[in-house]
Amino acid sequence: MELRDVIGPLFKLISEQMGMHRGTITLLNRSNGEIYIEEAYGLSESQLHRGRYKIGEGITGKVVETGKPMVIPRLSEEPLFLDRTGARKNIEKSNISFICIPIQVGDTTIGALSVDRLFEENVSLDEDVRLLQIIGSLIASAVRLRRSALEEKRHLLEENSRLLEQIKDKFQPKNIIGNSRAMQDVYALVAHVAKSETNVLIRGESGTGKELIANAIHFNSLRAQKPFVKVNCGALPESVIESELFGHERGAFTGAVSTRKGRFELAEGGTIFLDEIGDITPATQIKLLRVLQEKEFERVGGMQTIKVNVRVIAATNRNLEEMISENKFREDLYYRINVFPIHIPPLRERKTDILLLADYFVKKYAKSNNKDIKRISTPTIDMLMAYHWPGNVRELENCIERAVILSVDDVLHSHHLPPSLQTAEASRTRPSSNLNEALDNFEKELILEALKATRGNMAKAARNLGITERIMGLRVKKLDINPRRFR
Ligand SMILES: Nc1ncnc2c1ncn2[C@@H]1O[C@H](COP(=O)(O)OP(=O)(O)O)[C@@H](O)[C@H]1O
Ligand SMILES: [Mg+2]
Repeated sequence: MELRDVIGPLFKLISEQMGMHRGTITLLNRSNGEIYIEEAYGLSESQLHRGRYKIGEGITGKVVETGKPMVIPRLSEEPLFLDRTGARKNIEKSNISFICIPIQVGDTTIGALSVDRLFEENVSLDEDVRLLQIIGSLIASAVRLRRSALEEKRHLLEENSRLLEQIKDKFQPKNIIGNSRAMQDVYALVAHVAKSETNVLIRGESGTGKELIANAIHFNSLRAQKPFVKVNCGALPESVIESELFGHERGAFTGAVSTRKGRFELAEGGTIFLDEIGDITPATQIKLLRVLQEKEFERVGGMQTIKVNVRVIAATNRNLEEMISENKFREDLYYRINVFPIHIPPLRERKTDILLLADYFVKKYAKSNNKDIKRISTPTIDMLMAYHWPGNVRELENCIERAVILSVDDVLHSHHLPPSLQTAEASRTRPSSNLNEALDNFEKELILEALKATRGNMAKAARNLGITERIMGLRVKKLDINPRRFR
């Protein structure tokens, strides 16, 4: 595919057949209209570099411009001849004939092939022109091949990166609804971490879908065929959590009538999901730390050390950092679980997902209740959009389930929504007390967008927003934004 490989032998051939002294192949650079020497025979490196022409300039430029060969029996008689390369400076030009033919791909001239030979009174140059034209067409097809190979390569690279981009965007775990930028970022993180063995910490308010994401990670991981065991640390009383997690031996405590495996053992080879990890007591935190560090533990009342291979996904809606400063959560445990945090934004920060989710739940509950809900009324949609959803997706789901059950005419009406939403809509008409809040929200949204666009680079984001870095710092602090989230 290298032009050089084709041209070297060709020049050798021409020099033997025609008594050629010098030969050059020039090509037209389509981007700047300059003609440059691609390959030469009998020229020094510096002469080669001097050979640059504009279209129409000199003999080479003329040939490229017109697409017609030029034959000059005696160079000394040709005013167009520039000798730009300086290769014939000390040569008697009346003795030199010069032939230049265009190299064409289809109808376009892509360059020229020129040759000098010694002038001989009784030799016709027509024969040489014909030979050069044949060679020119060989070169043209080499150039064409190379170009299409390059095009093809570029095309493949483009397609490849487009497809990669598409997979990245398209990766959306089944049964997780939402197209918002924020959720797409979450999906990308899931796709990124699922196949690894890393422990994951999923953070976000209650009802944002943390458990759903934990599921998605497990079922997209290499452990998908192995157990996914869920423990709700918040729901279990302190007295049972340890035996739940680690199991117990027979007789370990009153009621322990037989040996029982804990959830860690049950999850062997798979994933354990520790929901509400912020709720576990300091005593259990120590034991958990040991499993995370050493991958081993003992059953309650047991002597034997049990080894496990379990990936840990934890979730919490608590502010663990604050708990650490209050000595309620162990810092060393925090670092063990917080290797790869995924933050799921509250529903009110991704309003574009509300309708998608509402539609999804309408279908889900219409089906399970044998109803045929045809639509959600416009006032209902307005109320769903206006509400701030403190209970996030779970609240929306409950709300829609209830409305589906209440509906009698296959339409979800605004009076099917719970009172909390009704007052929310009404409260939107109280402007003064909420203006600051609304402005803060708007400001927060703008800053979040800017940080997203700059991958958490505060200086850049500040520049884009036209504010100083200092102001940016103050706002980020005031609005409780964590720019690291976007790195
Ligand atoms: N993006 C989503 N798409 C579909 N359903 C969702 C989504 N997010 C949450 N849900 C549903 O909302 C409810 C609460 O989700 P869950 O994962 O238990 O939240 P969390 O663990 O954060 O409290 C579940 O019924 C879940 O199926
Ligand atoms: Mg939960």
